[in-house]
This record gives sequence, C-alpha cells and structure tokens, in this order.
Amino acid sequence: MLGQQRTLVVSVVAALVVYLVYFHGRRIPESFHAIQESEIFKITDDNTHHASPTTPGSLPSDVSTPSANAFSATPAPDPLDPDSSDAFDGLLHLCKETNWTDGLWVQCHSNCGDNSTSMCGGLNNARNRVQTCLRLAIDTGAGMIIPSATTRDENDLVNTNDKTVCADFFWNMGYMQEALAEQCPQLQIRQCDDRSGITKVIEPKFRLYKEAAHSNTTFRELVRYTLEQDNMTFADITPSSPAVVSFGDTYIGFNYMVAAELSTIRKALFKVLKFNRDLLDLGDQILKSDELHQGAFIGVHLRGENDWPGGFGTVQTQMEAYVAEIQKIKASVSYEIKAVYVSCGDSTAIRAFREMLVPLGFVVHDKWTLLAKQNETLARVEALGFDQKGIVEYQVLVGAQFWIGIITSSFSSLIAYARTVDDTDDFFETSIFPGSSKSGLDRGYSEPNTVKGSLNTKLMVVDGTDIMEAFP
Ligand SMILES: *[C@@H]1O[C@H](CO)[C@@H](O)[C@H](O)[C@H]1NC(C)=O
Ligand SMILES: *[C@@H]1O[C@H](CO)[C@@H](O)[C@H](O)[C@H]1NC(C)=O
Ligand SMILES: *[C@@H]1O[C@H](CO)[C@@H](O)[C@H](O)[C@H]1NC(C)=O
Ligand SMILES: *[C@@H]1O[C@H](CO)[C@@H](O)[C@H](O)[C@H]1NC(C)=O
Ligand SMILES: *[C@@H]1O[C@H](CO)[C@@H](O)[C@H](O)[C@H]1NC(C)=O
Repeated sequence: MLGQQRTLVVSVVAALVVYLVYFHGRRIPESFHAIQESEIFKITDDNTHHASPTTPGSLPSDVSTPSANAFSATPAPDPLDPDSSDAFDGLLHLCKETNWTDGLWVQCHSNCGDNSTSMCGGLNNARNRVQTCLRLAIDTGAGMIIPSATTRDENDLVNTNDKTVCADFFWNMGYMQEALAEQCPQLQIRQCDDRSGITKVIEPKFRLYKEAAHSNTTFRELVRYTLEQDNMTFADITPSSPAVVSFGDTYIGFNYMVAAELSTIRKALFKVLKFNRDLLDLGDQILKSDELHQGAFIGVHLRGENDWPGGFGTVQTQMEAYVAEIQKIKASVSYEIKAVYVSCGDSTAIRAFREMLVPLGFVVHDKWTLLAKQNETLARVEALGFDQKGIVEYQVLVGAQFWIGIITSSFSSLIAYARTVDDTDDFFETSIFPGSSKSGLDRGYSEPNTVKGSLNTKLMVVDGTDIMEAFP
C-alpha cells in the first residue's frame, strides 16, 4: 500500500518535470546555443544511456540534462518495496525467492593464478566471470567468494595469466558490497579468495567455453548432484560446517536469454559490478578536456592491434565503415561536430585513421594528444597495464555523445551495453540483431561489415560467434 502511494507520488512528480522540461524547453529562443542544447535533449530522450548517475559512464554533469532523468524516472519502480518484482531490475525479488544455505559458498575460477583459483583471459573475460559467478551463487543460494584475477604479461599480451591480483585492481568491490547489501541482502560476500575456516571443497566438472551455459536452476542442480557424489545434501552444510563450491570454467557461463532475464537480472548485475573508481576518474579527466566539448564528440573503438584476427573485421574494413558513418553523423546534427576520439592500442592504425578524417574536416584526438598538456595524468596512465588502460578508455567512450565500435570485440560490446543499459528495449535485440540469423552460437548478418545501431550507439557487424545471451 505504502509502496503504491510512493509510486503514485513519484509518477506525478516525474510527469510534472517532463511537462516543464519538455514543453517549456521548446520555447527556448532559437540561438545556436539553444539548437545545440535541444539536439542534445533530443538525443538523450532517444537514448538515456547516461540517465542514471550510478551507471559507470555518467557524462560530466554539465552534459546530463534534467530531461534524461525525468524520462527514465517515468516507470518509477519502487526500489524499496521487496514485493515489487521491478525493484532493482528484479534482483531484490529473486534473492527473496531464493532458498539460501548459510555456510555454502561459490567461488568461480579459470584454473589460473598462484593457487589455480583465479580468473584469467583478459579484462572483459574476467569481468564476465565475476558477473556470471554472482548469478550462479544466487542460483545456488550460496555466498560468493570473490576470486582473484590475473594480469596480462606486458611483454606478451596474449598471456593473461601473469601476476595474481585481488579483484579490486580492476573493479570497485566496495561498491559491489554496498549495492548487494541493499539489493540482495541475503547474499554474503567474501573478498579475494578468502576461504578461511572452510575445508570442505566441492568441485563440479570444469565447463569448457562452448559447452551449454547454465540457466534456471541448472547450476543449483549441478551443485546438488556434486554433493550427492560425496553422500551429502544441502542440509549437511551449516555455518559451523561450511563448504565451498569451486567452479572452474572459462567464459559465458550463464545464459540470460534462456532464463528470460536479459532486461532484468542481467541489467541489475551489470550495474552492481563497476570498474575501479580511480581508473574511471582518469577517464573522466580525459573527458573533461576542452577538445572533447563536454561530451559532444564522436568516439570510436578501432580494433587495430596486431593480435586481432582478420576474420573478426580487418582494421581497413573498420576504418572505411567508420569514416562513412562519421560523415553521416555530421550531416544528421544541426550543430557542428568535428571532434573524433579514437581508442586503439596501435599508433600506426591511429595515424592512418587520422589521415582519412583530417581532409574531411575532422580533428582526431586520442589519449596521448589530449593528455599532452597534463603530464601528471599522462604519467599515471602510462604507468598502467594494458587492461587498466582499457578501463580508462572505456570511461571516455561511454561518455561520448556518439560512438562506433565493432561487435566482435568484447570491449566494444561492453561499451555498447553500458551506453544502452537504461534503454527500455535491449539495444542488441532491437538495433543490431533484426535481419540476422543464428545457428548454434554463430550469427550471420544480411549485410556484414556494415554499421548498425541507434542514433548514438553503433557497431560494425561481422559474422561469427554471438555471445550476447551470456554477456556482459
Ligand atoms: C594461495 O594459498 C596460500 C595458502 O592457502 C595463501 O597463503 C596465499 O595467500 C594464496 N595466494 C593467493 C594469491 O590467493
Ligand atoms: C557414499 O555412500 C555409499 C553407500 O553407503 C558408499 O558406498 C560410498 O563409498 C560413499 N561415497 C563417499 C564418497 O563417501
Ligand atoms: C530449501 O532447502 C532446504 C534444505 O535443502 C529444503 O529442506 C527445503 O525443502 C527447501 N525449500 C524449498 C521451498 O525449496
Ligand atoms: C526459465 O525461466 C523463465 C522464467 O521463469 C522461463 O520463461 C523459461 O521458459 C525457463 N526456461 C527453461 C529452459 O526452462
Ligand atoms: C610536469 O611538467 C612540469 C612543468 O614542465 C614539471 O615540473 C614536472 O616535473 C612534470 N611532471 C612529470 C610527472 O613529468
């Protein structure tokens, strides 16, 4: 009852704000500045990717507009009402319905690191492992032991099993703990491989990359089965006789599509797991550069490093498709947009891309050109490892007004997801997949190597493995 009243009040206030901002805003005099503002208003209305101040990629506050917040607030689920299946995208409800076993813990790993209990495979692979593990722990009704991760060898980037680090090296574990205390209070969290006091280890069979992913209670069933092999049941586990399920697998271990959780639990868990704040702050530092006009630039993720398989979309194909798209974006807005920010680890590829865009009137920036005047920040970024630099770039690209990447890159796919997570409809289902066909894990497009997407967020599509059902 109280929840309903709160919902009503929030709806009325939201409607009022929408009315004031939307209808009043239209009477702003048609100066250049006003046109620019309304263009940004229009864009944020279509795509509220930075509407929530808690999404990892909030724009600097001077670019966020009240209209974005008002529109996203319209459905107004009551996050404090545990009976509302909308609260925290359904997470509060799911946790309330779960049968929890105190003393049971899940720790996922990929057989990496000093004790073979770490996640590896690079930043986005490891990120997927943490988010998936949260889902599997909830499925089991167990606590989660956050695994350690391993870094890349800077001299041999394909080796992702170098040094063992705690998860907060890459992610904001403090935030995750706080958010879960509110959104899934039954779920207990232990940090960094902490198995103290737990001697009983249950090890299900290692799950390989393309084996069927878990969904709807299949993981709980696997745990039950594995316990049974030890003549145990859930009832044998208590806080005074605890056990850990040590689950090894590589990637994409939970299928949100099969579980019908693409636009609920997947969103909730994505938002709970943010990147390390210090690294995002460095990205914000770059975003604040005058050259990026408070977000009014076109961001590009160019996957042109020399480890990139040609079948995933060559750098030449990407550059041609991106340049054509950038010209379309320029022609579609009523204000002048000349700034392009390119993220790429290969300086030769950046130079080639710049040479294509400069004659067309664009100015192409990258993290080195923008930080040239900020030598302290530049030194801090340069001192980071490859994957930590990726987190800095992520923040810049999530904050771009317009953005283009490539679907075969998990980094690009993560950025596309982050930019559109607050949209009502799933970005991939509505803007990328229509017109394509799927066979097993492979997806084919009617026009491969072209750019698809929404007004602000676009991907070059390439035929191949489609992991989005189990991503991010
Ligand atoms: C590996 O296990 C040993 C013994 O339990 C422990 O002291 C050490 O901290 C562990 N290393 C890591 C990186 O977790
Ligand atoms: C489980 O119980 C069965 C029957 O009592 C016994 O034969 C088997 O050795 C036990 N297995 C384990 C792992 O303890
Ligand atoms: C919850 O788990 C306990 C222990 O395994 C079991 O006895 C009980 O039946 C379960 N309850 C439900 C509703 O599944
Ligand atoms: C999994 O659960 C969802 C939601 O209850 C349901 O829609 C879906 O059909 C289930 N999938 C399977 C394979 O049982
Ligand atoms: C940054 O530049 C200033 C002025 O040129 C210099 O004093 C300072 O040592 C530089 N800092 C770094 C980290 O290079």
